[in-house]
Amino acid sequence: MSSRRDFIKKSAIIGTGIAMAPGLSYGATKPEKRLKVGLIGVGLRGTNHLNNVLLRDDVDVTAICDIDSRRIAIALGHVDKAGKKKPKVFGKNEYDYRNLLDMKDVDAVIISTPWLWHTKMAKDSMLAGKYTGLEVSAANTMEECWDLVNTHEETGSHLMILENVNYRRDVLAVLNMVKQNVFGELVHFRCGYQHDLRFVKLNDGKSAYGKGVEFGDKGISESVWRTQHSLLRNADVYPTHGVGPMATMCDVNRGNRFMSLTSHATKGIGLHNYIVENGGKEHPNAKLKFKQGDVITSTIETANGETIIVTHDCNLPRPYSLGFRVQGAKGLWEKDGDRMYIEGESDPHRWDASKEWLEKYDHPLWKKYGEHAQGAGHGGMDFFVINAFVESAKRNVAPPLDAYDAAAWSAITPLSEASIENNGEPQDFPDFTRGMWVKRKPYNWIKDTY
Ligand SMILES: NC(=O)c1ccc[n+]([C@@H]2O[C@H](COP(=O)([O-])OP(=O)(O)OC[C@H]3O[C@@H](n4cnc5c(N)ncnc54)[C@H](O)[C@@H]3O)[C@@H](O)[C@H]2O)c1
Repeated sequence: MSSRRDFIKKSAIIGTGIAMAPGLSYGATKPEKRLKVGLIGVGLRGTNHLNNVLLRDDVDVTAICDIDSRRIAIALGHVDKAGKKKPKVFGKNEYDYRNLLDMKDVDAVIISTPWLWHTKMAKDSMLAGKYTGLEVSAANTMEECWDLVNTHEETGSHLMILENVNYRRDVLAVLNMVKQNVFGELVHFRCGYQHDLRFVKLNDGKSAYGKGVEFGDKGISESVWRTQHSLLRNADVYPTHGVGPMATMCDVNRGNRFMSLTSHATKGIGLHNYIVENGGKEHPNAKLKFKQGDVITSTIETANGETIIVTHDCNLPRPYSLGFRVQGAKGLWEKDGDRMYIEGESDPHRWDASKEWLEKYDHPLWKKYGEHAQGAGHGGMDFFVINAFVESAKRNVAPPLDAYDAAAWSAITPLSEASIENNGEPQDFPDFTRGMWVKRKPYNWIKDTY
């Protein structure tokens, strides 16, 4: 996640790491069957997923769909280069993905389209009986959050939210520490999406990271659709990279749940200033009033008495950080500063560098596949999220990050919007599990399969 430019470079050289290990079988068991995968949306993110599945010996890419023929051409180029059979192509209109979903030769679907398509496509995919992987965030409104849960329950089709940060090496090491009770009883978390996206939300319409101040029809890649959300919504529109890992650590929807949230937003000046600096004050976009506050801070209370502070900070100059802090009765980890303190182990009142702790508790998955994962994108975590998706789909079992997680994490968007609108008034989370969180068991995270 640290740099989208790195991500693109890595995507370009993807394959050099993993493909050099021919016949590498992923997962604990030999594949019971090969998985036939269809991808809907092969923009920047979908192409990254495509490359990761192309490298596997247990997946056939049988179909791809995108309404942008340039993206289809790029995707087919990757398939060809990988020496794989040409998939069936869809994309003649915005609903052509439904024809992909009609294909018998598709077992599982990976959806990497703009946010407003997510729930619609995921719902259709589950209705078509496909094992469904959905990019983040999963839903935009509370109704959509419920749609994901209801459709999963009605159809029995599984939905995995493809939250890659849950698979980051430090995050999984800290999860390992949590499960081994190193921090003691958990009390407090901090996290967020703190990423200067000005050059993503605004570009020149020619290249995704080109200088320029256009968006919508005049933009390219994410500026085509993402910026509109900053213009019209004062909400944390991208909560899952931060909250996903924290929710897993404190067993949300499995013995715990989000109860309520309060949210506050600063003024929004970052995007306007960027437009004036790069496009001049006479540029038509300089007249726009962006509704989204530059820094949005939400505090979630959980049923087990923890608080989670979630920050959305994407419109101001700043280095990237998800700002993780995991704190329990015996100590804490803070990502900013890369530091750890464990009572009785660390020198009293002095931070340890987190490096040695993270190495000591390195997750079994990273120990086993770390070397192969390196080229897979976003420092390797993209390998693991797709690995979990494919392994769960092959067995047709519930994924580690499921429809209830997708709904609860994504609900932060409409709830933060309502709280900000009402001067920070607390907003209750619906119980998407309908009471089942009380007896649902946590996923078995500490293993070396997926
Ligand atoms: N997990 C991560 O680290 C990560 C990183 C980047 C993006 N994302 C998420 O991935 C998703 C896609 O982001 P992106 O950066 O690839 O954006 P993008 O704009 O580069 O790609 C989106 C693609 O979807 C296609 N599309 C739009 N409507 C369609 C339709 N009806 N049918 C078929 N195709 C359609 C577009 O033509 C485009 O190629 C977003 O939800 C984003 O939040 C996640």
